[in-house]
This record gives sequence, structure tokens and C-alpha cells, in this order.
Amino acid sequence: MKILITGGAGFIGSHLAEAYLEKGDDVYIIDDLSTGSLDNLQPMTSDPRFQNRIFVTVDTILNHESLLELTGICDVVFHLAAAVGVLTILEKPLESIRTNIQGTEKVLELCNKFKKKVLIASTSEVYGKHLHAPLVETDNIIYGPSSKFRWSYAASKLMDEFTALAYYRTHGLKTIVARLFNTVGPRQTGAYGMVIPRFVDQALSGKPLTIYGDGSQTRTFTYVKDVVQAFMALMETDDAAGQVLNIGGIEEISIRSLAEKIIELTASGSRIEYIPYEKAFGKDFEDMQRRVPGIEKIHKLIGYDPKTTLDEILRQIIASKQIG
Ligand SMILES: NC(=O)c1ccc[n+]([C@@H]2O[C@H](COP(=O)([O-])OP(=O)(O)OC[C@H]3O[C@@H](n4cnc5c(N)ncnc54)[C@H](O)[C@@H]3O)[C@@H](O)[C@H]2O)c1
Repeated sequence: MKILITGGAGFIGSHLAEAYLEKGDDVYIIDDLSTGSLDNLQPMTSDPRFQNRIFVTVDTILNHESLLELTGICDVVFHLAAAVGVLTILEKPLESIRTNIQGTEKVLELCNKFKKKVLIASTSEVYGKHLHAPLVETDNIIYGPSSKFRWSYAASKLMDEFTALAYYRTHGLKTIVARLFNTVGPRQTGAYGMVIPRFVDQALSGKPLTIYGDGSQTRTFTYVKDVVQAFMALMETDDAAGQVLNIGGIEEISIRSLAEKIIELTASGSRIEYIPYEKAFGKDFEDMQRRVPGIEKIHKLIGYDPKTTLDEILRQIIASKQIG
């Protein structure tokens, strides 16, 4: 099979590419390297087993010609290219909205032209400001006002979901929407606000671990390889078409406890420093206090059952940073 991954030079995309190459498939990637990097693909491009089976186009998904050619060649499409991370969205609001809305529309339009099954990577951010747990796919969505720009990420991804579902309803295009909760693992960068790589970098360099807010906000974390397995299974499952599915971990932890755990696992002498949200992100910011996925739907559909514990995930990330 020929697999197209938009955003394939990114964190999750590069792991997905690796899994398909290991399986014996050909992988095509389009990525503008805005937050991704060719370094993420180096283990694959330098592996003689994968020679002539990985093809990388450095370009934006907004370029019609490149996307047209790649969508035509490939059998299935994983759409991961997006403006990602709170910092990216706050720093480049217009560009981010363009990438997420126009980019996804273009991917779907071309998938429909060639009738290629497509999985869209959405996000738990679409749920907005809920306090209850777990969050299930049919929950209402609660956003702050449009003056709080962080919600533009959620709203743009929600529009992507609607567009994907509209292609399914209108044209019968096989679209799958995967709502990812915090996904973590080696190759993720802390440069765009992602908490675990940032804390690990700080702990390993002996700098203070900087917590935004009071650290009582909780999250769950999913190991990237569990996400990749779920993506591949969804692509092979006919009943996934036209569905929205959460993909996430179930071990809930506060950001304060996470920082303490990372200090312990790295045997670091770092201390914890608290930074008010307004100082870190400006006045347009508000955080979500809690984000825990309900995974019953995806469990029933593909038997999804994430097994990698947070301690194990953290050990892998710490080890990868100590080597690299
Ligand atoms: N990592 C997470 O915790 C998480 C959580 C929820 C959703 N997601 C979604 O998963 C997908 C992958 O995220 P990731 O964590 O791997 O982030 P990432 O930043 O590593 O990957 C995104 C990739 O898209 C590329 N890209 C951005 N704009 C592009 C454009 N216009 N044209 C071509 N390529 C472009 C970037 O260079 C990058 O390689 C995204 O759609 C993101 O919204 C991730």
C-alpha cells in the first residue's frame, strides 16, 4: 500500500511513517517543516531497508499541485499537518487558522476527487472548558469568547471535523475523525509549549521546571506508539468511516505531580517554579482544568486499550533525550 501522511515530518507523523515502513508499505510525506523536522525522519531515510520506500515532499498542504499529485498516487491518507500547540496559535493566529481550515478543506477535496479514505487528526481541545470526566464524543462543546485567541485552535479543528463529516454525508467519502488527547513520546519538542518534553529538558539541564498556573490542572498522556496502532487499526476498519473517536490515555495526573515525577525519574536537582498564565501567554489565555478521555467507543470498535504506563513513557522520553 501507498500511505500519504501530511505533517509526516512531525512528531506523530514520523512514528506513523516508521510503523508503515516496518510493515512493508510505501510512505509519502508532505510537510512544510514549520514545526516538524527532517531529523525526525532520519532514522528511516538512513535505513537501507526503507530505501526507495519513503518519499518526502517539503511543501505546504496549501499547494494544490503537490497535494493533487500525492493524493492521486497514494491509497489512503492520514491528515496530520496542522498549526499545533498553544504557542503557535497565539504567535501566528492568521497563518494557523489558514493551515487548519483551508489546508484540511483542500486535503478533503482531493481525497474526495480520488475517493481515498482519510483519517483527520483532531484534538481533545475541541471539547473546550469542561470540568467533568471522562469526556465522551457526544458531549457538548464549551468555548470561551473569541477575544481569547487560544480557542481558535479548538474552533478550527472543530470546523475540520464538521467538514470531514460533511464529506462523508454528502459524497460518501470514507472519513475518520480521531480526537487525540495529549500524545507523548520521543521526538516531541517542547518548543511549542508541550509540557512533558519541556519539563524533561528543564530537569536534565538543572533548570527550574516552569508550571503555568498553580499546577492543579490535570491531564492524561498517551504513548505515541499506542496512538499509531490505533490509527492503523482505524484505517483498516470499515465501520470507522463517518465516526468521531477519542484516542487517549486514562491515567489522570496533575501538572504539579507530573513535574515532581519527572524530577524524581531524572534524579534532577531542579526546583519547581510557578508562572501565572497571563505572564506566560498574555491576557487572551485561559486553560482547561481537566481533560480525561472516554475510550469506550474506540475500545468497542478496534479493541483499543492503551497499555503503556506514564512511568514507562517518561523513562523512554528521558532515555531518548539522554542519548540524543
Ligand atoms: N501531540 C499531541 O498531543 C496532539 C494532541 C491533539 C491533536 N494533535 C494533532 O496531531 C497532529 C500531529 O501533531 P504533532 O503532535 O505530531 O505535531 P507536529 O507539530 O510535530 O506535527 C505537525 C506537522 O505538520 C507540519 N505542518 C504544519 N503546517 C503545515 C502546512 N501548511 N503544510 C505542510 N505541513 C505542515 C509541521 O511542520 C509538522 O511536521 C496535528 O494535527 C495535531 O493537531 C496532536
